[in-house]
Amino acid sequence: MLPFLVQKMQNHMRRRLWSSPLSIVPFPLRPEAKRDRTIAAEITAYEKSAGFAHSAGSLPLRTLLRVEQLLTGTSLASAETGCGKSTILLSRISSSHKVFCLDDRNEGSNSSVAYFMNCAATRMETLEIVFGPTQLTLPAYTDHIPYDLVFIDGPHGFPFPELEYYFFYPHLKTGGLLVIDDIHIPTVGRLADFISEDRMFAKVEFIGATAVFRRTDAPVFDPFGDGWWLQDFNRRRADFARDIHLCDGRRHAPINFEGKF
Ligand SMILES: C[S@@+](CC[C@H](N)C(=O)[O-])C[C@H]1O[C@@H](n2cnc3c(N)ncnc32)[C@H](O)[C@@H]1O
Repeated sequence: MLPFLVQKMQNHMRRRLWSSPLSIVPFPLRPEAKRDRTIAAEITAYEKSAGFAHSAGSLPLRTLLRVEQLLTGTSLASAETGCGKSTILLSRISSSHKVFCLDDRNEGSNSSVAYFMNCAATRMETLEIVFGPTQLTLPAYTDHIPYDLVFIDGPHGFPFPELEYYFFYPHLKTGGLLVIDDIHIPTVGRLADFISEDRMFAKVEFIGATAVFRRTDAPVFDPFGDGWWLQDFNRRRADFARDIHLCDGRRHAPINFEGKF
């Protein structure tokens, strides 16, 4: 076990490296796209002209290429919540890619929809775009297919990623990837912690603040029942001898994010 400070520095370095643009990363550390050899260069060129991200923030290309490396199979079916740079890449490596996002094209150059739509590398014909808040569109959506990849990066407030997880987890293929971004947000991190311990998933790796899990062959947890007592996250923690089960975060002063988000 590394001393706490060394571990903190190591995590900090790792986060810095993974969030830096692909072009400044030394060659041996660059993930190489396998399916589509030109896409990395095309997106890098687009980043130079349009910026590394739209206003909602984008995944580093390195992270996306690493996810691609972890995908198995050829004719891929995928879905994502939110959109942007990830949509450009997934339009190229999937045969069918569903995008559940807000239509923010009225935001001009800040728009995440315009970011992927204006990019010449995007293959629009592979995309099915479902506009609207996922809180409304996912419960109403009935055309799910078995997915090789589900990527959760839409609204990040609690319990929205959980809600999206609920509507997607029954549709992941055995061996398919579940990717959850922004696990540094405490509630999103808790979701990743839960999934890390769930039998339906095996943790593959954390790439900076992005968690990647692979669907195991465990049966689908009944989405219409209860069964909290069957879930390992609960089985490891339930202690009915304790009167209080909550960590009281109120002793910390809330961080002020005014003007940042
Ligand atoms: C962090 S960005 C996604 C970044 C993207 N994955 C990329 O690589 O560029 C979050 C996205 O979620 C969208 N979003 C925010 N709230 C949403 C909601 N309630 N329903 C659907 N999409 C939402 C935003 O418009 C934005 O496109």
